[in-house]
Amino acid sequence: MTLHLAGQIVARPNLHRPLRSFRGIMRGMSERRTRVYDRDHVRDFFAARAADWDRRFPDDGPAFAAAVAVMGLRPGDRVLDAGCGTGRALPALREAVGPTGVVLGVDLTEAMLREAVRSGRDRDGALLLADAAAPPLRAASLDAVFAAGLVAHLPAPGRDLAALGRAVRPGGVLALFHPVGRAALAARQGRELTANDLRALPNLRPLLAAAGWRLTAYVDEPSRFLALAVREAVPEGPDALY
Ligand SMILES: C[S@@+](CC[C@H](N)C(=O)[O-])C[C@H]1O[C@@H](n2cnc3c(N)ncnc32)[C@H](O)[C@@H]1O
Repeated sequence: MTLHLAGQIVARPNLHRPLRSFRGIMRGMSERRTRVYDRDHVRDFFAARAADWDRRFPDDGPAFAAAVAVMGLRPGDRVLDAGCGTGRALPALREAVGPTGVVLGVDLTEAMLREAVRSGRDRDGALLLADAAAPPLRAASLDAVFAAGLVAHLPAPGRDLAALGRAVRPGGVLALFHPVGRAALAARQGRELTANDLRALPNLRPLLAAAGWRLTAYVDEPSRFLALAVREAVPEGPDALY
């Protein structure tokens, strides 16, 4: 079976495990909204890096496991890995929610998802080729979202985090993670860390608040960046913040 979302292929048989486990949280076809997709630069960027992604960062596994461990996931929870890439977080997420839980990895870049399949990480979660900012999921159907290295690639982070949040129940958790801190990442990318960095605490807290998330924990140290937030009950419709 191949599913389509607003004209995009969102899943192919060899990219996802059976839909049975998360069929209940998929948004109905009739509820889909049309959205113009212009994420080609993101796809090109990561498609060129997909084959080498895990080789470039071979030692990150424990950092991912530690980040997932502080999310407070419970057996049976439904968790989305937004911008899952090659699925490095999926084993830890599966471990946290157990066999009765739902683990879903969403990414825009098919080449990254193919690497996840090649590594066998589709055993730990269903994979979906889709925009994390418009996940084809029912409102409030998730308990948590894990997003490693995603937020800087969102063209409109506030709006997109708000859109992502609609799929999360009030009280659900968001983890924005990177296996190195902001300064180390800036150095790796050859750029200066400025006060405008959206992951800086004075910027991130209000950004999340306006998107319906309350920041509850923030760590920025050489070996990790981790921001945890809780989903607030946000009104839908004209009163919504985004
Ligand atoms: C820096 S990589 C991180 C991948 C993975 N989370 C990890 O830590 O190994 C960012 C990933 O986010 C994906 N991405 C960027 N924007 C996205 C979006 N709007 N929706 C879904 N995935 C997106 C990219 O395709 C890429 O795989």
